[in-house]
Amino acid sequence: MSATANSEFNFKKIIVWGLIIALGSIAFVFAMVSIARSAKGLQQPDPEAINSRIAPVARVEFASAAAGAAVGDRSGEQVYKATCVACHEAGVANAPKFGDKAAWAPRLALGLNGLLKSAIAGKNAMPPRAGSDANDAELARAIVYMANKAGGNLKEPAAK
Ligand code: HEC
Repeated sequence: MSATANSEFNFKKIIVWGLIIALGSIAFVFAMVSIARSAKGLQQPDPEAINSRIAPVARVEFASAAAGAAVGDRSGEQVYKATCVACHEAGVANAPKFGDKAAWAPRLALGLNGLLKSAIAGKNAMPPRAGSDANDAELARAIVYMANKAGGNLKEPAAK
């Protein structure tokens, strides 16, 4: 074996080992990255974290709808002015108009319970719960408020 042949052999050896080491470290990095990714993917979504992420939005909605009073504590007039007014003030989509005795008379015959059922379930163009976040007591108070301004003589259900 001549000196040249020997050094050529070493040179080839160095290139081969260099390539093996380079490819090996690239493969190692890829393996580490994919292990890290799959470990993240295995974590279950945390319902607490999801709740806390959506909570601010829900709070804003309640705050704007309550307009000063807590949901559940609003008077009939407050609920009327917050929601019902949108349709009942002008008689949108055949809604019985505020203060219109002729429009309300046949409805008053249903009594508060009948009217409350309509408001809770919705009726024709009126969506369920009249599209509001009012609870049953508030809906009842709003109905009493509207009905009594249109010749009715309904009594507000006692607060629980
Ligand atoms: C999106 C429009 C809309 C809003 C908002 C709305 N109403 Fe109505 N409401 C109607 C329409 C339309 C009718 C007539 C339904 C029919 O008889 O065809 C009606 C009818 C009623 C009746 C009579 C139901 C019956 O059985 O005859 C009551 C009571 C009533 N609304 C209460 C409310 C109250 C209380 C609110 C607010 C919390 C409200 N409405 C908000 C559209 C609306």
